[in-house]
Amino acid sequence: MKSIVIRQPNELVIEDRDIPQPAVGEVRVKVKLAGICGSDSHIYRGHNPFAKYPRVIGHEFFGVIDAVGEGVSDARLGERVSVDPVISCGECYPCSIGKPNVCTSLVVLGVHRDGGFSEYAVVPAGNAWTIPDSIEDKHAVMVEPFTIAANVTGQAQPIEQDVALIYGAGPMGLVTVQALKGVYKVKQVIVVDRIAERLAMAERCGADWTFDNSSQSLQTALEEKGIRPTLIVDAACHPSILQEAVNLASPAGRIVLMGFSSDPSQVAQQGITGKELTVYSSRLNANKFPVVIDWLKKGLIDPDKLITHVMDYRHVSDAIERFEKDQKHCCKVLLTFAV
Ligand code: NAI
Ligand code: MN
Ligand code: ZN
Repeated sequence: MKSIVIRQPNELVIEDRDIPQPAVGEVRVKVKLAGICGSDSHIYRGHNPFAKYPRVIGHEFFGVIDAVGEGVSDARLGERVSVDPVISCGECYPCSIGKPNVCTSLVVLGVHRDGGFSEYAVVPAGNAWTIPDSIEDKHAVMVEPFTIAANVTGQAQPIEQDVALIYGAGPMGLVTVQALKGVYKVKQVIVVDRIAERLAMAERCGADWTFDNSSQSLQTALEEKGIRPTLIVDAACHPSILQEAVNLASPAGRIVLMGFSSDPSQVAQQGITGKELTVYSSRLNANKFPVVIDWLKKGLIDPDKLITHVMDYRHVSDAIERFEKDQKHCCKVLLTFAV
């Protein structure tokens, strides 16, 4: 089989490998589609501190079960599945309170263990979620990115009267906009970014108002309109955003952080405590695959609005490069594997 392997930072090869056999409790997925995410590019470029090389990247993938290991029912053969990349121990403190996404021995497919940019991948059977026939392949491969939004909203519990502000109109900001509008019917969703084309995508995803903060002050614009966001999501993830979010938030507001920057954020406690703000963080997803599959079944979200490119996996280098360089026109890039 062919696998997309990062041998070491900046060295991507399409390697011939033996088709793997599923171990006890595992299934083998014949991959049909996979999505490129920022973290794939970070591992490729050597910017992910957790990555070990060589690594088959890819944590957003969909395919069909074509072999099962011991202890897994044959009935699963032929099932269409999307794979949750979060593998957890099930026993530690975070696992015991429903947060396997921060398991003390967390393993993420495509990061710590070989992932889905491959013609076949073996994964724990419990990570392979059945996709109902009513959900098309291109939507099924988008479950994982939307689970990030499901996790963010699971933390913040949006309500209809929220006025939400999303920093960043990249893939993560856009999935969050869709969840807030489509699932939670939030009254007003504002999106801020520096790229006009991305703000236009945010509008197509349901944003009520977008703002380009590259040359104008967001704070001034919100003050002029008398808007105090009650829910702020940082999907742009610059360390300076936290203090600005604290300043802009309504009293009793919530802020959700998604960033992994190792640079400190400077923030005055007075701004948080004075308004009794709640600051959440959100990492990966905690059991959100069934949640998003349900959203798709009910038509509450539309992955098509994020998919800008579909390319053959043999052009993966080109695909990643485009994804990195052309933020104006690239959002989600999907790779197709031979069927
Ligand atoms: P992206 O880089 O495509 O999008 C970020 C967007 O933010 C860009 O459009 C950029 O123009 C905009 N931006 C940057 N600074 C800004 C500022 N000061 N004000 C307004 N807009 C600004 O990235 P993507 O894939 O959407 O991911 C966003 C962030 O979320 C990344 O930092 C990534 O590491 C993080 N992330 C976190 C996850 C989690 O589970 N916590 C999962 C996936 C991504
Ligand atoms: Mn992803
Ligand atoms: Zn655990």
